[in-house]
Amino acid sequence: MVKISTSILSSNYLDVIEKINKTNTDYIHIDVMDGNFVFNKAFSISEISELKKYTKKPLDIHLMVNDIDYYIEKIKHLKPTFITFHYEVLNDLDIIKKIKNNGIKCGISVKPNTDIKEIYHLLAKIDLVLIMGVEPGYSGQEFIPTTLTKIKLLKEELKNQNLNPLISVDGGVNKEIAFECIKAGADILVANTFIINSHNFQERISLLRGISEEDIN
Ligand code: DX5
Ligand code: ZN
Repeated sequence: MVKISTSILSSNYLDVIEKINKTNTDYIHIDVMDGNFVFNKAFSISEISELKKYTKKPLDIHLMVNDIDYYIEKIKHLKPTFITFHYEVLNDLDIIKKIKNNGIKCGISVKPNTDIKEIYHLLAKIDLVLIMGVEPGYSGQEFIPTTLTKIKLLKEELKNQNLNPLISVDGGVNKEIAFECIKAGADILVANTFIINSHNFQERISLLRGISEEDIN
């Protein structure tokens, strides 16, 4: 079954974490923005450490930053399950080894305008591909439909290369989009608005997994 990574881009994140702890989400997705790679800023190093104290869920960290190395140095001790950085700022392949040598799974993310084929030569080295369904920087945006083609192409390429990094999709995921992403080959769905803007986080998580409303109630 598809795994769910609940994204917590939120000003009152400690309250939100309490609620997420009570669900069966597989991961908690932490967006780190430096104000450079993306215009927005989110989750400072100290906030991530704080957040780690309160969450019972494994961390799925998404770096939307230019200086990947700096952030890895600062957060590696938190032992996240995944650290994902953006392909668009990758200039030294040793960064992949650095993440993995710390016992952390390495993900690479691609923005909507980045051709998925550009990362095919890296697939054997990584554990996850995070395909952005929206321009990084903000939650609450609408899913870009061509993302589905990217997921299918990547799935096909993984089959051809006989590799199995996970395919994760981030941005604009709701119940209908989740269904399409799963059909296209997604292994993990990241969602903020669809889960957090609800009174019942667990119900929304189940809906993303494809469990019907009748089965939940
Ligand atoms: C966007 C972030 C996403 C965001 C998703 O830059 O990387 O993780 O929180 O938010 P929704 O699900 O609202 O698109
Ligand atoms: Zn994200």
